Amino acid sequence: MDMLHLNSPAEAERWCSEQRDLRKAIGFVPTMGSLHKGHLSLVDRACQENDACCVSIFINPLQFEDPEDFKAYPRDTESDLAQLKAHGCDMVFMGNLNQFFPEVSDGDEIETLPAGHHGAGLEERFRPGHLDGVRTIVERLFRTVGRSRVYFGEKDFQQTLVVSDLAREIGYPEVVVCPTVREDSGLALSSRNVLLDAEEKSQAQLIYPALLAAYDAWSTGERDPEILSAAMIKHLDHDGLMVEYAEVRDPYNWTPQLPVTPLERAQALIAVRIGSVRLIDNLRLDQ
Ligand code: PAF
Repeated sequence: MDMLHLNSPAEAERWCSEQRDLRKAIGFVPTMGSLHKGHLSLVDRACQENDACCVSIFINPLQFEDPEDFKAYPRDTESDLAQLKAHGCDMVFMGNLNQFFPEVSDGDEIETLPAGHHGAGLEERFRPGHLDGVRTIVERLFRTVGRSRVYFGEKDFQQTLVVSDLAREIGYPEVVVCPTVREDSGLALSSRNVLLDAEEKSQAQLIYPALLAAYDAWSTGERDPEILSAAMIKHLDHDGLMVEYAEVRDPYNWTPQLPVTPLERAQALIAVRIGSVRLIDNLRLDQ
Protein backbone atom coordinates (compact mmCIF):
# COMPACT_ATOMS: atom_id res chain seq x y z
CA MET A 1 0.00 0.00 0.00
CA ASP A 2 1.28 3.48 -0.89
CA MET A 3 1.77 5.92 1.96
CA LEU A 4 -1.03 8.47 2.17
CA HIS A 5 0.04 12.08 2.78
CA LEU A 6 -2.71 14.25 4.28
CA ASN A 7 -2.49 17.97 4.81
CA SER A 8 -5.04 18.51 7.56
CA PRO A 9 -5.96 17.01 10.92
CA ALA A 10 -9.62 16.79 9.74
CA GLU A 11 -8.63 14.44 6.88
CA ALA A 12 -6.43 12.46 9.27
CA GLU A 13 -9.32 12.11 11.72
CA ARG A 14 -11.52 10.69 8.92
CA TRP A 15 -8.82 8.21 7.83
CA CYS A 16 -8.32 7.00 11.40
CA SER A 17 -12.04 6.59 11.90
CA GLU A 18 -12.26 4.53 8.66
CA GLN A 19 -9.41 2.29 9.91
CA ARG A 20 -11.28 1.67 13.15
CA ASP A 21 -14.49 0.91 11.18
CA LEU A 22 -12.42 -1.74 9.36
CA ARG A 23 -11.45 -3.10 12.83
CA LYS A 24 -7.83 -2.09 12.30
CA ALA A 25 -5.69 -1.23 15.34
CA ILE A 26 -3.86 2.07 14.81
CA GLY A 27 -0.30 2.80 15.92
CA PHE A 28 0.53 6.50 16.04
CA VAL A 29 3.87 8.33 16.25
CA PRO A 30 3.65 12.10 16.87
CA THR A 31 6.77 13.96 15.64
CA MET A 32 8.10 17.38 14.75
CA GLY A 33 9.87 15.95 11.70
CA SER A 34 13.61 15.97 10.98
CA LEU A 35 13.36 12.26 11.59
CA HIS A 36 16.28 10.14 12.81
CA LYS A 37 16.72 6.49 13.74
CA GLY A 38 15.09 7.14 17.12
CA HIS A 39 11.82 8.23 15.46
CA LEU A 40 12.10 5.41 12.94
CA SER A 41 12.41 2.84 15.74
CA LEU A 42 9.05 4.15 17.02
CA VAL A 43 7.55 3.88 13.54
CA ASP A 44 8.86 0.30 13.17
CA ARG A 45 7.29 -0.64 16.46
CA ALA A 46 4.00 1.08 15.64
CA CYS A 47 3.88 -0.84 12.33
CA GLN A 48 4.76 -4.18 13.98
CA GLU A 49 2.26 -3.94 16.83
CA ASN A 50 -0.73 -2.54 14.90
CA ASP A 51 -2.65 -3.04 11.64
CA ALA A 52 -2.20 0.56 10.48
CA CYS A 53 0.54 3.05 11.29
CA CYS A 54 0.28 6.83 11.13
CA VAL A 55 2.72 9.64 11.87
CA SER A 56 2.17 13.35 12.39
CA ILE A 57 4.74 15.96 11.44
CA PHE A 58 4.07 19.33 13.03
CA ILE A 59 6.59 21.75 14.51
CA ASN A 60 4.42 23.07 17.29
CA PRO A 61 5.15 26.77 17.95
CA LEU A 62 3.29 26.56 21.30
CA GLN A 63 6.10 24.51 22.84
CA PHE A 64 8.93 26.90 21.85
CA GLU A 65 9.36 29.61 24.44
CA ASP A 66 12.16 31.11 22.30
CA PRO A 67 11.16 32.19 18.75
CA GLU A 68 14.81 31.85 17.61
CA ASP A 69 14.81 28.20 18.72
CA PHE A 70 11.60 27.64 16.71
CA LYS A 71 13.21 29.23 13.65
CA ALA A 72 16.41 27.18 14.03
CA TYR A 73 14.59 23.86 14.57
CA PRO A 74 15.74 21.56 11.73
CA ARG A 75 13.27 20.86 8.92
CA ASP A 76 13.58 18.25 6.15
CA THR A 77 10.14 17.19 4.95
CA GLU A 78 11.33 15.52 1.75
CA SER A 79 13.70 13.18 3.58
CA ASP A 80 11.08 12.60 6.34
CA LEU A 81 8.48 11.44 3.81
CA ALA A 82 10.95 9.16 2.01
CA GLN A 83 12.03 7.55 5.30
CA LEU A 84 8.47 7.06 6.52
CA LYS A 85 7.52 5.40 3.25
CA ALA A 86 10.54 3.09 3.45
CA HIS A 87 9.57 2.10 7.01
CA GLY A 88 6.03 1.11 6.06
CA CYS A 89 4.08 4.06 7.46
CA ASP A 90 0.51 4.00 6.04
CA MET A 91 -0.45 7.62 6.58
CA VAL A 92 1.41 10.81 7.46
CA PHE A 93 -0.40 14.02 8.30
CA MET A 94 0.58 17.62 8.74
CA GLY A 95 -1.38 20.74 9.56
CA ASN A 96 -1.14 24.29 10.76
CA LEU A 97 -2.16 26.01 13.99
CA ASN A 98 -5.48 27.24 12.49
CA GLN A 99 -6.38 23.71 11.52
CA PHE A 100 -5.49 22.27 14.93
CA PHE A 101 -7.31 25.09 16.78
CA PRO A 102 -10.19 26.07 14.44
CA GLU A 103 -12.13 27.66 17.34
CA VAL A 104 -9.42 30.34 17.79
CA SER A 105 -9.86 33.35 15.48
CA ASP A 106 -6.94 34.50 13.34
CA GLY A 107 -4.59 36.72 15.35
CA ASP A 108 -5.94 35.57 18.74
CA GLU A 109 -3.56 33.86 21.10
CA ILE A 110 -4.01 30.14 21.66
CA GLU A 111 -4.21 29.47 25.38
CA THR A 112 -2.10 26.55 26.47
CA LEU A 113 -3.28 24.05 29.07
CA PRO A 114 -1.22 23.40 32.19
CA ALA A 115 1.02 20.35 31.87
CA GLY A 116 -0.06 19.21 35.36
CA HIS A 117 1.74 17.49 38.23
CA HIS A 118 4.53 15.95 36.15
CA GLY A 119 5.18 19.22 34.35
CA ALA A 120 6.63 20.78 37.52
CA GLY A 121 10.38 21.28 37.95
CA LEU A 122 13.33 20.45 35.65
CA GLU A 123 12.08 21.36 32.14
CA GLU A 124 9.64 23.88 33.62
CA ARG A 125 12.48 25.64 35.43
CA PHE A 126 14.48 26.18 32.23
CA ARG A 127 11.75 26.12 29.56
CA PRO A 128 8.73 27.65 31.30
CA GLY A 129 5.59 26.89 29.32
CA HIS A 130 7.28 24.25 27.12
CA LEU A 131 5.45 21.24 28.54
CA ASP A 132 2.17 23.21 28.65
CA GLY A 133 2.62 23.72 24.89
CA VAL A 134 3.38 20.02 24.42
CA ARG A 135 0.31 18.96 26.40
CA THR A 136 -1.88 21.36 24.43
CA ILE A 137 -0.89 20.08 20.97
CA VAL A 138 -0.69 16.44 22.05
CA GLU A 139 -4.29 16.61 23.27
CA ARG A 140 -5.32 17.77 19.75
CA LEU A 141 -3.22 15.01 18.19
CA PHE A 142 -4.74 12.36 20.49
CA ARG A 143 -8.27 13.58 19.63
CA THR A 144 -7.42 13.60 15.90
CA VAL A 145 -6.17 10.01 15.86
CA GLY A 146 -8.59 8.70 18.48
CA ARG A 147 -8.35 5.26 20.10
CA SER A 148 -4.93 3.89 19.23
CA ARG A 149 -1.51 3.03 20.60
CA VAL A 150 0.84 6.00 20.62
CA TYR A 151 4.61 5.71 20.72
CA PHE A 152 6.95 8.14 22.49
CA GLY A 153 10.73 7.99 23.02
CA GLU A 154 12.02 7.83 26.59
CA LYS A 155 14.63 10.50 25.84
CA ASP A 156 11.97 13.13 26.59
CA PHE A 157 11.28 11.53 29.96
CA GLN A 158 9.27 14.31 31.59
CA GLN A 159 7.22 14.64 28.39
CA THR A 160 6.33 10.91 28.58
CA LEU A 161 4.97 11.47 32.11
CA VAL A 162 2.91 14.48 31.03
CA VAL A 163 1.39 12.77 27.97
CA SER A 164 0.69 9.59 29.96
CA ASP A 165 -1.30 11.71 32.47
CA LEU A 166 -3.16 13.28 29.55
CA ALA A 167 -4.02 9.88 28.03
CA ARG A 168 -5.32 8.66 31.42
CA GLU A 169 -7.41 11.83 31.71
CA ILE A 170 -9.10 11.54 28.31
CA GLY A 171 -9.29 7.73 28.39
CA TYR A 172 -7.12 7.01 25.34
CA PRO A 173 -4.71 6.30 23.64
CA GLU A 174 -2.51 3.59 25.14
CA VAL A 175 0.91 5.21 25.60
CA VAL A 176 3.94 3.05 24.78
CA VAL A 177 7.29 4.46 25.94
CA CYS A 178 10.22 3.14 23.89
CA PRO A 179 13.95 3.03 24.74
CA THR A 180 16.24 5.88 23.75
CA VAL A 181 18.28 5.15 20.61
CA ARG A 182 21.95 6.12 20.93
CA GLU A 183 24.95 6.57 18.66
CA ASP A 184 27.88 4.18 19.34
CA SER A 185 29.38 6.96 21.50
CA GLY A 186 26.28 6.81 23.74
CA LEU A 187 24.97 10.20 22.54
CA ALA A 188 21.16 10.03 22.42
CA LEU A 189 19.79 10.64 18.92
CA SER A 190 18.05 14.00 18.67
CA SER A 191 16.91 16.15 15.76
CA ARG A 192 19.01 18.90 17.29
CA ASN A 193 22.28 16.91 16.94
CA VAL A 194 22.61 18.12 13.32
CA LEU A 195 23.06 21.65 14.70
CA LEU A 196 26.29 20.66 16.54
CA ASP A 197 29.72 21.22 15.00
CA ALA A 198 32.48 18.63 15.59
CA GLU A 199 33.80 20.26 18.78
CA GLU A 200 30.27 20.67 20.17
CA LYS A 201 29.48 17.07 19.34
CA SER A 202 32.44 15.84 21.36
CA GLN A 203 31.12 17.89 24.31
CA ALA A 204 27.65 16.39 23.82
CA GLN A 205 29.27 12.97 24.09
CA LEU A 206 29.99 13.72 27.77
CA ILE A 207 26.28 13.48 28.66
CA TYR A 208 25.93 9.70 28.56
CA PRO A 209 29.11 9.01 30.60
CA ALA A 210 27.72 11.45 33.20
CA LEU A 211 24.50 9.40 33.39
CA LEU A 212 26.60 6.23 33.64
CA ALA A 213 28.56 7.79 36.53
CA ALA A 214 25.27 8.15 38.44
CA TYR A 215 24.37 4.57 37.45
CA ASP A 216 27.72 3.30 38.81
CA ALA A 217 27.29 5.27 42.04
CA TRP A 218 23.76 3.81 42.45
CA SER A 219 25.08 0.31 41.75
CA THR A 220 27.60 0.64 44.57
CA GLY A 221 24.83 1.62 47.01
CA GLU A 222 24.70 5.43 46.74
CA ARG A 223 21.12 6.66 47.40
CA ASP A 224 21.69 10.31 48.32
CA PRO A 225 20.15 12.51 45.57
CA GLU A 226 22.73 15.28 46.14
CA ILE A 227 25.68 12.90 45.76
CA LEU A 228 24.18 11.23 42.67
CA SER A 229 23.67 14.68 41.18
CA ALA A 230 27.26 15.70 42.03
CA ALA A 231 28.59 12.54 40.32
CA MET A 232 26.96 13.67 37.06
CA ILE A 233 28.00 17.31 37.32
CA LYS A 234 31.66 16.28 37.81
CA HIS A 235 31.57 14.53 34.40
CA LEU A 236 29.97 17.51 32.69
CA ASP A 237 32.56 20.03 33.83
CA HIS A 238 33.87 21.26 30.46
CA ASP A 239 34.33 24.67 28.86
CA GLY A 240 31.51 25.40 26.44
CA LEU A 241 29.06 23.03 28.08
CA MET A 242 26.51 24.69 30.36
CA VAL A 243 24.62 22.38 32.71
CA GLU A 244 20.98 23.41 33.24
CA TYR A 245 20.24 20.44 35.45
CA ALA A 246 21.76 17.08 36.32
CA GLU A 247 19.44 15.65 38.93
CA VAL A 248 17.63 12.50 40.01
CA ARG A 249 13.93 11.93 40.61
CA ASP A 250 11.81 9.10 41.87
CA PRO A 251 9.92 8.39 38.60
CA TYR A 252 6.84 7.19 40.57
CA ASN A 253 6.81 10.00 43.09
CA TRP A 254 7.61 13.12 41.08
CA THR A 255 8.88 16.16 42.95
CA PRO A 256 9.63 19.53 41.34
CA GLN A 257 12.86 19.79 43.37
CA LEU A 258 15.65 17.34 44.07
CA PRO A 259 14.23 14.83 46.60
CA VAL A 260 15.66 15.33 50.08
CA THR A 261 15.52 11.75 51.38
CA PRO A 262 17.41 8.67 50.13
CA LEU A 263 15.78 7.22 47.03
CA GLU A 264 14.36 3.72 46.46
CA ARG A 265 14.05 4.26 42.69
CA ALA A 266 15.77 6.83 40.57
CA GLN A 267 15.76 8.37 37.14
CA ALA A 268 18.81 10.52 36.40
CA LEU A 269 18.00 13.46 34.11
CA ILE A 270 20.32 15.92 32.39
CA ALA A 271 19.81 19.08 30.33
CA VAL A 272 22.75 21.02 28.91
CA ARG A 273 23.34 23.86 26.52
CA ILE A 274 26.23 23.65 24.09
CA GLY A 275 26.44 26.91 22.17
CA SER A 276 22.88 27.57 21.01
CA VAL A 277 21.86 23.90 21.17
CA ARG A 278 19.97 22.43 24.11
CA LEU A 279 20.17 18.68 24.68
CA ILE A 280 18.45 16.42 27.20
CA ASP A 281 18.94 12.79 28.20
CA ASN A 282 18.12 10.47 31.09
CA LEU A 283 18.74 7.00 32.49
CA ARG A 284 16.94 4.76 34.97
CA LEU A 285 19.41 3.90 37.72
CA ASP A 286 17.64 1.09 39.59
CA GLN A 287 17.02 -1.34 36.72
O1 PAF B 1 8.57 14.99 21.14
C1 PAF B 1 8.18 15.70 20.18
O2 PAF B 1 8.64 15.59 19.05
C2 PAF B 1 7.10 16.74 20.43
O3 PAF B 1 7.20 17.27 21.71
C3 PAF B 1 5.67 16.20 20.17
C4 PAF B 1 5.32 15.08 21.11
C5 PAF B 1 5.56 15.74 18.73
C6 PAF B 1 4.64 17.32 20.38
O4 PAF B 1 4.87 18.41 19.54
